[in-house]
Formats: sequence, structure tokens, C-alpha cells
Amino acid sequence: MKPRDRLRIAMQKSGRLTEPALELLNRCGLSFRQSRDKLFCFGEGEPVDLLLVRDDDIPGLIAQGVCDLGIVGRNVLNEFKGIAGDGGAALTEWRSLGFGRCRLSVAVPHDMAYNAPTDLSGLRIATSYPGLLGAWLRENSVDASVITLAGSVEIAPKLGTADVICDLVQSGGTLVANQLRETDVLLQSEAVLAGPQSLPTDERGDMVELLLKRLDGVIQVRE
Ligand code: PRP
Ligand code: ZN
Ligand code: MG
Repeated sequence: MKPRDRLRIAMQKSGRLTEPALELLNRCGLSFRQSRDKLFCFGEGEPVDLLLVRDDDIPGLIAQGVCDLGIVGRNVLNEFKGIAGDGGAALTEWRSLGFGRCRLSVAVPHDMAYNAPTDLSGLRIATSYPGLLGAWLRENSVDASVITLAGSVEIAPKLGTADVICDLVQSGGTLVANQLRETDVLLQSEAVLAGPQSLPTDERGDMVELLLKRLDGVIQVRE
């Protein structure tokens, strides 16, 4: 791959993290010219560009070195770390950013009896997080079948394609609307600044240090 001299940050193209992530970067003194297709945004002052992608692709782009940093949910980062082996282990959380707070939880139909994780034995669990769910099931010695869905997980019990679910909960509105009851929290999540364990040793590394310093200032002011 051709060496880059500009820092490249990946973030969600459209979703719950998009607006707050852009606002945070603006507060750090970064501004971007929007390209026509809006997938690549050229940084105007500092040598920092943005790549707008699906959030699920962000950890992989950093692991491959296509991007230097990413703003992504801890849920997505940890799912990648859980299933990507060595490539995943090389990624870390540089900062937690205090927005996009949610949790990854198991939820069951409201009329299902539930006391402990072992009650899930033999059931079908729908999720978009097979890595995180699988690890939690092993920790709790539960033998269940994991059904991986890309989205609309909460509808699966009603459709009969799963018995229970494991998905993100923010307000809880989606669970209520689908007559589901939250039983176990697997992970507390929020947006994080993700990157490799070791930063680039060139000018990009200096830029990361500058960005982290500004980020700490902005986060401190907000707290
Ligand atoms: C997320 C998540 C839940 C819902 C939780 O989905 O997957 O379905 O939000 O939020 P709530 O507790 O406030 O209802 P999102 O709408 O982001 O879409 P997606 O599942 O297609 O990613
Ligand atoms: Zn996603
Ligand atoms: Mg959803």
C-alpha cells in the first residue's frame, strides 16, 4: 500500500454516531470539505481526512491500515476483536467519547419465565453480535444456538425464527414495541476512538498526539 502522509479517520456514514462524531471533530478544530459522494471528506486545515463507511466496517479498515483511527461503538470494536484473531488484538480504545451510550443485552418474550442464563440452554438466540454473545454463553456454560442477523433482530421471536434475542438497547423502546423484556447486560457501550496499539511513527503519529490532546481538552470541558 502507498504510504500516506495525511491522517485518515473512519466514521459512520449515516446513523446515530454520525452527527455527534462530526461535532466532536469540529470542536477539536477539524473541518471538512464534503465531497460530492460524501464518502471521503477532505480536511481543510489540518492534514486529517474522513472516510464515511458502515460502522461495522470500521475496525477492519483500521486493522488493514486503510484508516489510522475510527470513531465507532465499543460493541462493534469488541465484536471485531472477538472474531478477528490477531488482527483484532492489535486494535485498542484510545479514548471513550461519552456519546452513543447503549448496552448489549439479552431479551426474552415478556411472558417467558426467566431466572438465569442457564434458562437459555437449547434455545435459539438471534443477534448481530455472534462473537460477544458466544463468549458470554461460554462463560455461563450455556449451550444455545446463535442465529446471526444483520438487523431487525427484535422481530425474530415474533416471526418464530428465534426464541430470544441479544441486541443493543438504548431507550428500550424497540424492546417494548416487540414485547421483549431485558434480562442480562453483556456490555455497556458508547462511542470510542479506536486505533492500532502502536501509532504510526511518521507525521501521522504526531497528528494523532495533537488530536488526542485536543480531544482531552474538549472532553474535559464537557464533563
Ligand atoms: C438499534 C439497535 C436496536 C435499537 C435500540 O438499531 O439495534 O434495535 O437501536 O434502540 P432503543 O432501545 O432506543 O429502541 P438501529 O435503529 O440503530 O438500527 P439497526 O438495528 O438497523 O442498526
Ligand atoms: Zn451497524
Ligand atoms: Mg436495531
